[in-house]
Amino acid sequence: MHQGVGVSAVEYTGNGFGKLLLFGEHAAVYGYPALGLALPLRTTVRLVDEVPRTELNRSMSRSRLSAPHLPEKDREIVQALWEDLFRFAGDRSAPDNRSTHNDTGNLLEHLRERQFTLHVWSNVPRSRGLGSSAAACAALAGAWTAMEAMEANAKLPDSQHATWLLAHKLEHRFHGTPSGIDTGLAVYGGCRSFLFNGGELPETQLLPHPAFPIVAAAVPRRSDTKALVASIRRRREAGDPVVHQALAQLGRISEQAIRAVAAGAPAETVAAAANEADSLLTALELDSEQVRYGLRLAREYGAVGGKISGAGGGGAFLAIFGPDRAEAAAAFAAALPAQIEKQGGEAEAIVISPPQLTPPSTKAESTTSGPS
Ligand code: PMV
Repeated sequence: MHQGVGVSAVEYTGNGFGKLLLFGEHAAVYGYPALGLALPLRTTVRLVDEVPRTELNRSMSRSRLSAPHLPEKDREIVQALWEDLFRFAGDRSAPDNRSTHNDTGNLLEHLRERQFTLHVWSNVPRSRGLGSSAAACAALAGAWTAMEAMEANAKLPDSQHATWLLAHKLEHRFHGTPSGIDTGLAVYGGCRSFLFNGGELPETQLLPHPAFPIVAAAVPRRSDTKALVASIRRRREAGDPVVHQALAQLGRISEQAIRAVAAGAPAETVAAAANEADSLLTALELDSEQVRYGLRLAREYGAVGGKISGAGGGGAFLAIFGPDRAEAAAAFAAALPAQIEKQGGEAEAIVISPPQLTPPSTKAESTTSGPS
């Protein structure tokens, strides 16, 4: 893309993966650790600086971000996130840690003078508990972090952590109190544990990728995460013993599953933990008819276990297959949408393959990149 004579527009790119929560949903709200897996699905944001650096036109009216390819509703959200970025960047110290607050202010003022166009591409299903908002926040934060580093002529000491923090802050616009799990998986990818130690973000550790196929599936939700978390909280605060016991057991299962996955446990061990967690989530009334149907179908295709994933009430679920059952996992993922459609519903499913089976086109990519 060219502006003016012989001067190219500058472009910054950020990526964010979708996610599948393996263990720890709801228990994580009360401080128990969680385990999640990035999906081979992602959102990519390209932030194009349309005004060449050499031709800054000061007389141009102050422009904000334009995202002409997005639907009207999304444009409003993107505009709000863009304003958030300026606010958060203004709040924090400048990237090289030596610049003064004033330098950051100057940089933001400078960015305000420019015309940016945002291009978004995504194959993460929306509103299904598969981390679409976190993926979008991570992608936008990644592109912004790359741009800021370039503008400040500074390399961030840990640009991925800066991206995660920014993405986490942006996610407040979607979820009042995000845990940081979704944005952590969106930014870093891989299979990760999350420990809540009272910091702004949880501590995360990269674990070995499960050496067996897992199918991530999802159906529409009847309620959102905020409402589901609030209903469990109300019952817990009212002293409901089922809720107290279930949350403690879900937390314990998550801790054990993290240790098991860290030690490279076989599919059967992880599947047994998933089945146990699923019974507890069902006891918490987080189940849905379509999810139950999907999990039964997975069994028919040879899954060794499965569970509700995330907040429940529809949304995401997962099925675990033995390491030699890649074809069965693929057949289940292909059959599920049509089967659920026959019953008047809708579903999506994707196989998360062990790394050695991952086709090259779905390999993890870095979350940020500089100008291209
Ligand atoms: O929004 P979901 O479906 O990915 O669920 C988030 C997991 C919860 O534990 C229910 C909420 C949280 O913030 O930890």
